[in-house]
Amino acid sequence: MQLFLDTTDTAVLRTLAATGLVDGVTTNPTLIAKSGRPMVEVIAEICGLVEGAVSAEVAATDVQGMLAEGRRLAAVAANVVVKLPLTPEGLVATRQFALEGIQTNVTLCFSAPQAMLAAKAGATYVSPFVGRLDDIGEDGIQLVHDIRAIYDNYAFDTQILAASIRSADHVQAAAIAGADCCTLPPAVFEALFKHPLTEKGLEQFLSDWAKTGQSIL
Ligand code: G3P
Repeated sequence: MQLFLDTTDTAVLRTLAATGLVDGVTTNPTLIAKSGRPMVEVIAEICGLVEGAVSAEVAATDVQGMLAEGRRLAAVAANVVVKLPLTPEGLVATRQFALEGIQTNVTLCFSAPQAMLAAKAGATYVSPFVGRLDDIGEDGIQLVHDIRAIYDNYAFDTQILAASIRSADHVQAAAIAGADCCTLPPAVFEALFKHPLTEKGLEQFLSDWAKTGQSIL
C-alpha cells in the first residue's frame, strides 16, 4: 500500500519524509488556505521533498477553468497529480487530462457509482472520503470494499486512494479492503509506528542490556 501524507506543512513533511516511508502527498484548498502560502509556491516545495505523486487541486468548477488551472499545476513539477472534484465537469476534464498524459486524482468520492464513473473517465486515482462518511453514520470502509470489487470486476486501472482517514484503524481497514493508497494526516502516520507493547518491550531490552555492561562497538 502506498502511504501519502495529507498536509501542506512542509516542516513536518520534511521530517516524516526522512523515514523513507512517505510515498507521496495530497493537498486540497482547505490545506492550502491553512498554509497561508501561495499555492504554486507550496506545491513546488512539496514536490521537491517527495519523489512520489503530489496532488494539487483545481479551484475552478467549469471545464475550461479546470483545464487551464490543471495544466498550470501540472507544469509546476513532474510529480504533480491534478486533483478534480467528482462532478460532471470534473470528469470531462479528467478524460481530457488522460488524453494529455496528465495524472489525475478525482476527489470528494462518496459512493461506488461515483467511483465507477471516475474510472470510466480514466482517473489515475479516486479518493473515497472514509472519515466524512463515518461522520454521518455511514460505513466509509465499506465504500472502499465496494469500489475494490467493482474495479476488479472490470479491470479498471484507477487506483483507490483512501482519504479522509482519521486513525490507524482506518489505515488497517483500508489496507484489508484493498485500497492501493491511503492519505493520512501526519499524526495518523506517526501513530502507525506505535504500540504500547513495542515501547514496553524495548524498555525491557535496554534495561537488561545495560546490566550486561557490554558494548557492541
Ligand atoms: O485531502 C483529502 C481528504 O483526505 C481530506 O479529508 O475529511 O480530513 O478533510 P478530511
